Amino acid sequence: MTNPSPPQPSWRQIGRHAVFPNATHDEVARFDFLMRLNMHLAQAVQPGVKLAYDTRVAPAFAAEHGRQPADRHEVRKAMQKDLHYQLWSALRRNTMEQRQQAGRSVVFRQLAQLRAAADKINEGASTLKLDSSIVQPRYASVVDIHCMPGNYHTEEVARDIAPGANYDAGLFVTTAGALGSYSDGGGQAVVDWLKKNKPGWSPKRILDIGCTIGHNAVPLAQAYPDAQVVAIDTAAPVLRYGHARAVSLGVGNIEFQQASGEAVPFQEGEFDLVTTAMFWHETSTKAMPRIMKEVHRVLAPGGLTLHLEQPQYQNMAPFEAFMRDWDSYNNNEPFWTRMHEVDLDALMTQSGFPSGAYFETTMQAKVDRTLFPAPAGSEPGSHEDYGRTPKWTAFGAIKPGALA
Ligand SMILES: C[S@@+](CC[C@H](N)C(=O)[O-])C[C@H]1O[C@@H](n2cnc3c(N)ncnc32)[C@H](O)[C@@H]1O
Repeated sequence: MTNPSPPQPSWRQIGRHAVFPNATHDEVARFDFLMRLNMHLAQAVQPGVKLAYDTRVAPAFAAEHGRQPADRHEVRKAMQKDLHYQLWSALRRNTMEQRQQAGRSVVFRQLAQLRAAADKINEGASTLKLDSSIVQPRYASVVDIHCMPGNYHTEEVARDIAPGANYDAGLFVTTAGALGSYSDGGGQAVVDWLKKNKPGWSPKRILDIGCTIGHNAVPLAQAYPDAQVVAIDTAAPVLRYGHARAVSLGVGNIEFQQASGEAVPFQEGEFDLVTTAMFWHETSTKAMPRIMKEVHRVLAPGGLTLHLEQPQYQNMAPFEAFMRDWDSYNNNEPFWTRMHEVDLDALMTQSGFPSGAYFETTMQAKVDRTLFPAPAGSEPGSHEDYGRTPKWTAFGAIKPGALA
């Protein structure tokens, strides 16, 4: 059967908790407008970019060079002159800037109340460990990543949580609800994969590196309530927010700790499971091997490491790689382009995992039925019914040995 148009979720449907910002009627309207503009760009304008490439840009390139573009860089240089591409790209960048403005204005006008709510939960909590000696890495502080002023770490007031609240409020807008009402579709996909591929397994200690507000660590903690989850990040404001968010959602088995993945403050072999979600593309060429060596070091013999990311460019058609590369050149994601050409198998082998341990798999976010009710006649539990949920590549390895 043909897929019906997906319902359009509203920002009003976001899952609430004690530190989630409130929005007025007009603020909700602004978020919803931006979300629908994003959907319109993806569904109605973006297909024209491919059409422009196929019918104008690629033929002109072939006429000039006597061949097709060899890689994403040649496609980009040719496409940058195309008016339809320029229109789509400029609007996409603009929605990102407006989304940041919308989130920050909502958060800043109620920052005192939000911070008080976070303070009430965080004060004296042994599950929030901040360390002011942690230096924000250059790759996470020099550029305002995805147009987010001040990044994840900037504190404009004492005990700031604004970057976390802005991130939480805006993720729903940029993903148009496709990650679910708690924007945790990535973490839920990891849990589904683990339950299917490691049935009966109960990791005792789980480490999540670069957790931001912990929205993808929470489903892991919920799925394995007896596990102790440690979620680390270098940025204090997102940890304060993430801790208060998790506690308010009734999740008490996550310890949020300010620490760098480049120097994980735990002993060798302490974790049965080490995860990251959409993390590596915001690091650097030098940091990646350092962090992967740490992953290998803190993983217990027999332990599993699993990393959710967008697919690598090897074996990808140049046009698709060019489209995926958009964020690097237009959305302040400077490492995105380089990260997606790294040989991840070699990276893991050089970090201590044995040759042949590396594996790749795909994961798909679960459809949140509160946002997207199943269309009549669709397969129960089908993930494909609206074709809207994101699909990721995940990679990982098992460290040789047997878990204690
Ligand atoms: C793209 S966000 C990760 C998003 C999150 N994991 C998720 O599930 O969507 C990158 C995060 O990594 C953090 N970060 C950057 N470098 C880091 C490092 N060396 N160690 C730990 N966290 C780091 C940033 O502060 C930021 O919160």
